[in-house]
Amino acid sequence: MNGALLLTPTLSPQAGRGSKHSPRAASARRERDPRPREADGSRPFVVAIDGPAASGKGTLARRLADRFGFAHLDTGALYRATAFLVLDPGGDPADPATAEAAARRIDRQLLADPRLRGEAVAAAASTVAAIPAVRRALLELQRNFAAHPPAPAKGAVLDGRDIGSVVCPAADVKLFITASAAERARRRAEELRQEGAAAIFEDVLQDMKERDARDTERRAAPLIAAPDAVVIDTTTLDADAVFERAYGFIARALKEKEWKQ
Ligand code: C5P
Repeated sequence: MNGALLLTPTLSPQAGRGSKHSPRAASARRERDPRPREADGSRPFVVAIDGPAASGKGTLARRLADRFGFAHLDTGALYRATAFLVLDPGGDPADPATAEAAARRIDRQLLADPRLRGEAVAAAASTVAAIPAVRRALLELQRNFAAHPPAPAKGAVLDGRDIGSVVCPAADVKLFITASAAERARRRAEELRQEGAAAIFEDVLQDMKERDARDTERRAAPLIAAPDAVVIDTTTLDADAVFERAYGFIARALKEKEWKQ
């Protein structure tokens, strides 16, 4: 099924009966809703996916965006790119002025650079991510992507740590994807081995726990499940089972939104 088709506005069975689904009620709701709209009055459908490192949220976000024809933004790449621009010339990721200047220099091409995927960059990313000026510099960019996903996408999937709580608090669907630290470390070690790197499970687990601690204990936008997020624990689920569950939530929310157009 092409999920993007679900966005086509349809008349609900209640239309014109003066119910909460009537065109007049829908139009009043539209006027009250402060979220950005496209020129035709429609509002992009936003899916916020948060979770700790190696929880499977990145793969899930890409698959969902693909299936629904939505645009995808891996917001972790923004923090990784910032860290890379600091580390490359030998800078200190903990220095706020250097990190903020780097965040303002990110370009689209750098986001796809394979050098962002390394463990050193990941660790430095969680250091720059704790600096409020860096988060401020990246906030507008993320909100702008959600409000105006690149055409022809009629929706956006953003994955990160604070999407449901800070970046897109009014997202249509919020998912929080998690798994035990040991399972996430096992997956990450496996990934590293497949890339040809020597990975010792205990070292990967230790790095993972340190990064989790930096991400959950920082004062600026810590990793947290928004109160209205659906939590999916993937410790004993495979990627397909997680996808099916998430797909179901989004398909239902899209149907619901059609009624509200
Ligand atoms: O998701 P990924 O592992 O690529 O993220 C790298 C780091 O960027 C995270 O450990 C976290 O510190 C930071 N991050 C963040 N907020 C986001 C996305 C990532 O603080 N929305």
